[in-house]
Parts: sequence; structure tokens; C-alpha cells
Amino acid sequence: MIRLTKLTKKYGTFTAVNSIDLHVPAGELFGFVGPNGAGKTTTLRMIAGILKPTAGTVEIAGIDIAKDPIAAKSKLGFIPDRPFIYEKLTGAEFLRFVAGLYGEQGKEVEHRARELMALFDLEEWRDELVESYSQGMRQKLIVSSAFVHRPQVIVVDEPHVGLDPKSIKILRELFKEYVRRGHTILMSTHTLDAAEALCDRIAIIAGGKIAACGTMDELRAGAENKGGLEEIFMRLTGQTAARDLVDVLDA
Ligand SMILES: Nc1ncnc2c1ncn2[C@@H]1O[C@H](COP(=O)(O)OP(=O)(O)O)[C@@H](O)[C@H]1O
Ligand SMILES: [Mg+2]
Repeated sequence: MIRLTKLTKKYGTFTAVNSIDLHVPAGELFGFVGPNGAGKTTTLRMIAGILKPTAGTVEIAGIDIAKDPIAAKSKLGFIPDRPFIYEKLTGAEFLRFVAGLYGEQGKEVEHRARELMALFDLEEWRDELVESYSQGMRQKLIVSSAFVHRPQVIVVDEPHVGLDPKSIKILRELFKEYVRRGHTILMSTHTLDAAEALCDRIAIIAGGKIAACGTMDELRAGAENKGGLEEIFMRLTGQTAARDLVDVLDA
């Protein structure tokens, strides 16, 4: 459902994403995990068609996004890490607006918007302006907006940021049920626990490359390590444990 071939992004001479090959089949919840600056956001933005690759291709449901961007993007919902929301729309208006971008409107959209807002405890806020929403409420609205038009593929960058534990639980259940119905979700997170709890398969991204990819069991076996994802992650991304705090605080 998502196919990346030699996907590359350079900023000047710096290579942020270095020839990534990946296939995510329909019905999979796939996770990108990696340290800050690994290239997750850059990759997701290229998949969403917001950023032009330096080289390589992105296919969504078999459609090359560079050749037919409108057809490819119509299959896709994108939840960015730093979303833009119009402050002067109400929550309900925002969801209506996003559905409209995908050519959907009417009773069905209204019903879905209502259900999504109820799911995230936003019912009482549906007719309030977004400018009065807290960060967590905005995040829940943004997440809802990706589901309102029922895209085949959802690409979501760090969805847990700003959410309280209850909202994270709801989000996880929503994601799981969505892929169970045959849709596909590609999610990035720096929260290893989240990836481990949620994803069918995981790619560990480091320095713009996929350092390892597979199910948790495969990653553990490949790394000859029976530990948690965190240990594998630290080793593959060349990260050592935090500096000795005594040195830091004595300095
Ligand atoms: N617009 C840009 N111009 C120059 N460098 C950038 C730009 N966007 C991202 N980068 C660099 O590309 C690398 C990958 O960034 P990013 O994809 O945001 O990583 P992640 O989401 O994994 O934290 C980082 O080193 C970052 O500084
Ligand atoms: Mg990022």
C-alpha cells in the first residue's frame, strides 16, 4: 500500500534521508522509530507529498505520487507533527473543512465528525473556536481530521505528543481497529514503548537509513538480543547511555 524505492532527500550537501526502500502492505500498522534528527519527519513528508524527494519514488496504492499527485493524495490522510489549524474555525468546522478538501460532505461526514469528537471527549467543544483549545485538544482534533474522510492510508508523525494517558489509549484502540479493517497506518514515534505496544512491524531509522526492520521478535532475533526494543535501539543507532551525571553536575 506504501512503497518507497531508493527514497532520498538532501538539504544542500547533507543527506537527511539516504536511499530508503520499504514496502508496507495493506492492513499493517507500521512504525518508524529513531532518535531526533534520524530523518523520520523528512521521510513522512515526502510520503505525504509535501516535500519533493531529491531521488527515488513514493507509491501509494500503486500510484506514483510524483506522476499523479492528486490521485495518490486522495488515498492518504496525513497528521503532521506541527499541524496548522485555523484558529477561527470551530472544531466541527475544521473537520468539515478537511473532509471538503477530499471532496466529501453531507450527512455522512457530519456523523463521522460527531462520532470522532465524542470518542475523544470533544463533544462539548465542537462549536467552540480552536483558539480556545488546549494543546492536547488540538492534537485530538488533528488526529480526528485524518479519519473523517476514511483514507486507505494514514501517515502520522509523532501522534502521542501532548496527549494524556486516556487519550493515548483511545488513539491506540482507534489505530488498531482502523488497520484491522484493512486500512494502513505508518506512524513515527520516538516513544519506544508506543511502537512496541502498537506496531505490527517497526523500522529503526538512524542517520537517514533503515538500521533494522521487522516485527519485535525479528528485531530481537536479528540483534541477538532478548532485551526490550530500547536496548536494540540504543545499539543500532550508536547511542550510548547518558553521560555520567556526576561529571555533568560537578562540571
Ligand atoms: N528544511 C531543512 N533544512 C535543512 N536540514 C533539515 C531540514 N529539515 C530537516 N533537516 C535535517 O534533516 C535531518 C532529519 O530531520 P527530521 O526528518 O526532522 O528528523 P526526525 O523527524 O527523525 O527527528 C536533521 O538533521 C535535520 O536537522
Ligand atoms: Mg520528526
